[in-house]
Amino acid sequence: MVIHALLAASLAMTSMPATALQARVDCARVKCLALTFDDGPGTTTPALLKILGKAGAKATFFLVGKQVEKRPEIAAQVVKQGHAIGNHTYSHASLPTLRDDEILEELKVTQEVIGQATGQQPTMFRPPYGHTDERVLGLADEANLAQVLWTATTLDWQLRDAKKIKAAVLRLAGRDGVILMHDTVPATVKAMPEIVTELKKRGYHLVTVPTLLRGKRPQSGVSYF
Ligand code: NI
Repeated sequence: MVIHALLAASLAMTSMPATALQARVDCARVKCLALTFDDGPGTTTPALLKILGKAGAKATFFLVGKQVEKRPEIAAQVVKQGHAIGNHTYSHASLPTLRDDEILEELKVTQEVIGQATGQQPTMFRPPYGHTDERVLGLADEANLAQVLWTATTLDWQLRDAKKIKAAVLRLAGRDGVILMHDTVPATVKAMPEIVTELKKRGYHLVTVPTLLRGKRPQSGVSYF
């Protein structure tokens, strides 16, 4: 049984493209940071993907179902480049204000939409506005989703200025941190080349949330960060 699992794992590894091998980064040994981008895919997402690709950086994208329906090919591109994806609800709703069946609908429809676009269903979700409670977490468990929050938010949507956003990220960055940004904010994308360069200079490995969790699969119904 164990041997079969190991064999399957090694076979899976060899068939994986180089970009997907980031799980090998051991955040127990090196300095890691997870950049996360919410609310896309948007019109500015392809430019961000190009910047991250050039830098060899991996990130996590919390996708809005409605946006994935508009731009399925960009969602597919995110996965193809080895980034992690999460569910950010279908309509970017404040979940605690909804009934149980409405919350499940927001999560489950988005799982389907993302699965259709990318061939992959998320194991993580992030509640819009960070609005959540025990009821939401329990329903997320029913939808097989772990909740992923953040350690620091840049408020990039409020700053809307590349220099200020860069300063905020560099101030908030810390080992094993999870930084919240938005790929739909043009100034964030504009700031990203310098942010990535500076973070790498400071010794950070820019990794996905699952890699930050030491390669463990996020557990359904558990809240992280
Ligand atoms: Ni959001």
